[in-house]
Amino acid sequence: MTKQTIYWPPERQDSGVREAAAAIAAGGVVAFPTETVYGLGGDARSGEAVARIFAAKGRPSDNPLIVHLADAAEADALASSIGPLERRLMAAFWPGPLTLVLPVRPGAVSERVTAGLDTVAVRVPAHALAQRLIAAAGCPIAAPSANRSGRPSPTLARHVLEDLDGRIDGVLDGGPTGVGLESTVVRVVDGVIHVLRPGGVTAEQLQEAAGADVPVVSGGGPTGERHSSPEAEDAEAPRSPGVKYTHYAPKGVMTLVAADDPGRLRAAVQAQADAARQSGGRVGILACDEHAGAYRADAVLALGPRDEPRQAAQALYAALRECDERGLDYIVAESFPERGIGAALMNRMAKAAGGRIVRA
Ligand code: TXA
Ligand code: MG
Repeated sequence: MTKQTIYWPPERQDSGVREAAAAIAAGGVVAFPTETVYGLGGDARSGEAVARIFAAKGRPSDNPLIVHLADAAEADALASSIGPLERRLMAAFWPGPLTLVLPVRPGAVSERVTAGLDTVAVRVPAHALAQRLIAAAGCPIAAPSANRSGRPSPTLARHVLEDLDGRIDGVLDGGPTGVGLESTVVRVVDGVIHVLRPGGVTAEQLQEAAGADVPVVSGGGPTGERHSSPEAEDAEAPRSPGVKYTHYAPKGVMTLVAADDPGRLRAAVQAQADAARQSGGRVGILACDEHAGAYRADAVLALGPRDEPRQAAQALYAALRECDERGLDYIVAESFPERGIGAALMNRMAKAAGGRIVRA
């Protein structure tokens, strides 16, 4: 499946958008920046284009894609009904990093996009280049993150090329993405907002926009913290097919260390790193800026200040890729507080660790 992948640099955005839109209109697949991560886009109505997206990524076909629109008004063409609470969320967060799972209007998009489900995931990205591309292509754009399946999502055009050069038609370089983690995926059922995947829009922001009387239900936090009232939990709660797959896995074995007390956290991280070193491999540590200087390891990667999880969110995926580049066999990562975007950050770190979480 080798093909010439065109690179459109930041200084050639106008012709880049034109050519990328033409490629998508012709059934091709093109990577583009959004405010969260780079996406790999194709015409959501075309089964062939969508099949190319799955093939380029090596993605299991039972994991549905998010459809990207230039404007919220276009959602009515894709969804068979949109309730008042969903409209409130659209008004509050679009354009922005919120994905809504809505009942699909039959025939509106290829069945490959929805993986045969009766729902479709929709969002309006808050990125000028993404909006111009979607508008110019003149179609809804199905776009998963532009990484090979199982790799960290790309936050730079370079990451896209690392994974997909020769497998896609082109990549529009818009520089680093802003949020650095994917959108929040929600589904409204019977007046309850279910967070299927935490992301750029926080549970606190959802609660504020929805009003105090609307339950916002998330899974338990990755390190055991709960974000919602247990009575709102539902055995039949909607799920996102994607969450069952291992994601964001670096090549090295990663362990996430959680502790409320910073002193205990530092001691436990160093102990884990020392133990890993005993076994002979190269060991890296992912840490907050404040702690990074004190650790001993083959590599220490600082993610940002401890009380600024937005910076760590932005830095995480590039750091995981760097761990691979540096050939680290073991990675020990500090946990961050699970407030705000910290919940999504910890969700991704726990996945990267494949569930290996140590409580200190
Ligand atoms: O920020 C983002 O959301 C990025 C950018 C490119 O927009 N996209 C992204 O797509 O993260 P992807 O394919 O990597 O993740 C899509 C997630 C998966 O967990 C998938 O299972 C879920 O959305 N999803 C898609 N359609 C769904 C549906 N109909 N019902 C439930 N979950 C759905
Ligand atoms: Mg993805």
